[in-house]
Amino acid sequence: MKIVSVVGARPNFMKVAPFCRALKAYPDVRHVLVHTGQHYDVRMSEQFFRELDIPSPDINLEIGSGTHAEQVGRTMIAFEKVLRDERPDWVVVLGDVNATCACSITAKKEHVRCAHIEAGLRSRDMDMPEEINRLVTDRLSDLLFTPDRMSDANLRAEGVPEDRIRFVGNIMIDTLERERSKAESLDLDAIVRDNAIDGQARRTEPHLADNGYVAMTMHRPSNVDSRETLVPAMRFFLDEVSREWPIVWAIHPRARKMLMEFGLWDEVAANPNLVLVNPLGYHAMLRLNMGARLFMTDSGGLQEECCVLGTPCLTMRWNTERPVTLMENGGASILVGNAVDRMREAYRSQIDAERRAMRPELWDGHTAERIAGILARSGD
Ligand code: UD1
Repeated sequence: MKIVSVVGARPNFMKVAPFCRALKAYPDVRHVLVHTGQHYDVRMSEQFFRELDIPSPDINLEIGSGTHAEQVGRTMIAFEKVLRDERPDWVVVLGDVNATCACSITAKKEHVRCAHIEAGLRSRDMDMPEEINRLVTDRLSDLLFTPDRMSDANLRAEGVPEDRIRFVGNIMIDTLERERSKAESLDLDAIVRDNAIDGQARRTEPHLADNGYVAMTMHRPSNVDSRETLVPAMRFFLDEVSREWPIVWAIHPRARKMLMEFGLWDEVAANPNLVLVNPLGYHAMLRLNMGARLFMTDSGGLQEECCVLGTPCLTMRWNTERPVTLMENGGASILVGNAVDRMREAYRSQIDAERRAMRPELWDGHTAERIAGILARSGD
């Protein structure tokens, strides 16, 4: 049997690592790993392959940046050639990035069976490019590997036949469990020093201690692409939060670009209590999460990691495709959107809160093994 799996952007890498490993238990399965090249920086891509022991991609499509149509279009054209050369039994796509959607469409048009890992998540927000990717991919896929029971229910409600749905748990947590001891051994100040952005490299203050800082990431177009949204949020971080606690912000290329465009970059870079670091590697980010008093993020993956680690999490979105991680469902996350009043209120209520770890069903570190087993047996 031959399986072609596809990764494109950062959130795919921590999901594919355990899958590659789990397939090794099946010597009859030939695995071809394709990287579309949507994320191409060392910090957004290569360092994850190294840290997580992901085999080098067999094929790199070198798609690069562009509009959504450009990324999806270029991926489809290049991936069609891959499928015609490789003729796999399965295409496996992960998550909700442009590669996921582009390659599921291409697979089905080439009459190749497609399996989706992390199926069934729904934000019901059609302004999110990721929601469009999820809907298209799930509609087309032959096998839908879901991370939680809520996702099963979403698929059923859309009329997906029962025999396509497989509840297997959350594959990201396989990586978290495997890597957490390595992360634990890292020193916080060394993480900052080794990942400091240009100009802050020699900074030694503030010294970071466990439970003594707020961690942050923010990259969604809905948060960073408009001045009306980004400026008030930045005022809250700069004028309120950073006066009480150091904020360690792992800054995504998109957010950095927009801060420069809106004339905020110099002030942000000069604030002594705003510790800016480049996009972090997997272990460094996990360590940062383990020691944070609070996480402020608009990332779906971090929301899940905060849930399992118990880090109180302000999710800077109005909705989430991962409701299982919300406080009302036992998790660690509160939706605060991008309204400063709401952020402030949740910040006040959570900054002194106790850590409360929660592990949803089958987030047990063995999801990839279940998926590999199902795919390997599908040829019987
Ligand atoms: C993508 C995913 C999103 C995911 C995020 C995590 C889609 C639709 N979105 O969004 O789901 O949460 O990745 O990182 O697939 N850039 C670099 N270096 C890189 C990659 C990108 O500088 O290695 C720049 C690009 O030039 C672009 C910006 O970052 O200007 C955004 O990149 P893009 O791939 O369009 O989407 P993300 O916002 O990263």
